[in-house]
Amino acid sequence: MSAIISTQQLSIAFGGHLAVNQVSTEIHEKSFTSVIGPNGAGKTTFFNLLSGQLNPTEGRVFFRGKDITAHSPTNRSRIGIGRSFQITNVFPNLTVLENVRLAVQSQAKVRYQLFAHFSFYHKFENKARELLKTVLLHEKEASLAVNLAHGEKRKLEIAMLLALETEVLLLDEPTAGMSLEEVPAILEVIKAIKEKGDRTIVLIEHKMDMILDLSDEVMVLFNGELLAKGSPEEMMENETVQSAYLGGLHSENLA
Ligand SMILES: Nc1ncnc2c1ncn2[C@@H]1O[C@H](COP(=O)(O)OP(=O)(O)OP(=O)(O)O)[C@@H](O)[C@H]1O
Ligand SMILES: [Mg+2]
Repeated sequence: MSAIISTQQLSIAFGGHLAVNQVSTEIHEKSFTSVIGPNGAGKTTFFNLLSGQLNPTEGRVFFRGKDITAHSPTNRSRIGIGRSFQITNVFPNLTVLENVRLAVQSQAKVRYQLFAHFSFYHKFENKARELLKTVLLHEKEASLAVNLAHGEKRKLEIAMLLALETEVLLLDEPTAGMSLEEVPAILEVIKAIKEKGDRTIVLIEHKMDMILDLSDEVMVLFNGELLAKGSPEEMMENETVQSAYLGGLHSENLA
């Protein structure tokens, strides 16, 4: 298995604080990797370094062996690293379908530059409909984005991320803030994307059952450092991980 993304001594300091500290790792092509760790461990910051939203203080990021440390987020998305849209990127007064269609269209423009011709409109819309089916949001295609429930907004974000057709999907707590009833649908969506087998998925999550269920590999971040990495079972059994993190997480989950 070859690495699609790798990092070498990746670090970023905010003031004097190292939010990500000397992280060297590899993410394998078409694998499902989860990133776990307590609040403030550096998980989101690590994603921001992979997607280019932040520049490292030290270290490098590689995509298929090519050094992309200096590349912009747009450039990284173009070559294949996509991160989920925040709801702020969604047009609240456009419909669900229109939002996804625009995401599809933006990807097409990146590829073909000039293809804004009207005849493509239906192609874009059909593609958008297909994506809405994938995320189980097709019944809401005519709703204004502003009127969606929280869980539905997260599904919309995932559809817009899929529209970019990037090989790598960085998903930062897709179930955050959801009600218990909304979680299974998102889980189903992520499973469906995984089962298609054509993407590399990196997921930040706090829900251990989801991590155990989905992951090929688990990265444990603690105080910005990569504390351990391995199969979900190995991480569950790892004493350093248990004492640093999993014990607390378990009791949280059982609560
Ligand atoms: N832009 C920033 N400026 C200053 N400090 C920051 C910035 N972004 C993150 N931090 C700090 O870096 C550390 C890591 O934050 P990060 O958001 O990456 O953690 P996390 O693992 O994603 O946590 P959570 O599980 O709560 O989402 C924290 O101490 C946070 O306060
Ligand atoms: Mg975070």
